[in-house]
Amino acid sequence: MGAAVVAAVVLAGGCGGGAGKEKGVKVSPQVAAGAHDYVQFACAQCHGMRGRGGVSPFVPALTQVSKVLTAARLRQIIDHGLGESENPTKPYMPVWGEVISKRQVSDLIAYMHAGFPAVPGASPPPVRTDQGQAVEGSALYIKDGCINCHGPNGLGGVPNPQSPDKTVPPLSGADFFKEFNTDKKIEDVIQSGSVIGRAPIVSMPHWGGILSNQQLKALVAYLKTLKRG
Ligand code: HEC
Ligand code: HEC
Repeated sequence: MGAAVVAAVVLAGGCGGGAGKEKGVKVSPQVAAGAHDYVQFACAQCHGMRGRGGVSPFVPALTQVSKVLTAARLRQIIDHGLGESENPTKPYMPVWGEVISKRQVSDLIAYMHAGFPAVPGASPPPVRTDQGQAVEGSALYIKDGCINCHGPNGLGGVPNPQSPDKTVPPLSGADFFKEFNTDKKIEDVIQSGSVIGRAPIVSMPHWGGILSNQQLKALVAYLKTLKRG
């Protein structure tokens, strides 16, 4: 992990910048990488931007808790998940161990322990809602981190070695569209997730209470544009 050298000076705001009121902060490359990981893996979509919560009553803010949890405990939570994965009505903390690298988890922990500083550019992609549902859904697929587990264009293939299929399933292709042959079936599984087993098996997170009905429909519209066989 190396010395805590503050090598990058990241300035938000400043003269003439469009970044607004955020104060300039100095963060190390590791903290900056953690801020980007926090967005990429959709931590922000459940726990709020910069760990501030406010997304769902079932998902805690992380700003306070990150100060007291040790690096080892945080690593355990991120790798193995937390909460009642069996209860489909509540979101739980997904199991990330098979998907995120050790280095990325270290970066995430550095970012959390640094107190979630503002890092320019570490923000999710904009989601347009005025160009049709499929366009909205394609942005949500990245913003909500579906792409990390289901691959680009829903092609699948992401390793999940302890699961019966050994990979996270694709969201495209003949088998997918045969099983998920109505919008409702696709919406239901996104909303309630699906528990294949305990960590380190990666299961489908529950997005009910996090994604709105409009967002669920947009994701379905996007998935229906993908390869059918
Ligand atoms: C699908 C929503 C979801 C996503 C995505 C998600 N989490 Fe969580 N997380 C939860 C929920 C729900 C809990 C609370 C579990 C419980 O205690 O019942 C939680 C708990 C936690 C905790 C423990 C908090 C405490 O109060 O003890 C940490 C730390 C955490 N998450 C970090 C992360 C990080 C880092 C990421 C991104 C890699 C992430 N989470 C992504 C839903 C999510
Ligand atoms: C942490 C990894 C992870 C993330 C993030 C994730 N999924 Fe999944 N998803 C899974 C796993 C694993 C399964 C297989 C569940 C099973 O077989 O019971 C699954 C199953 C599904 C299915 C049913 C496909 C099938 O063949 O069983 C759909 C649809 C789906 N996910 C959509 C989404 C969408 C949309 C998102 C983003 C909002 C998303 N997933 C995010 C891991 C993930």
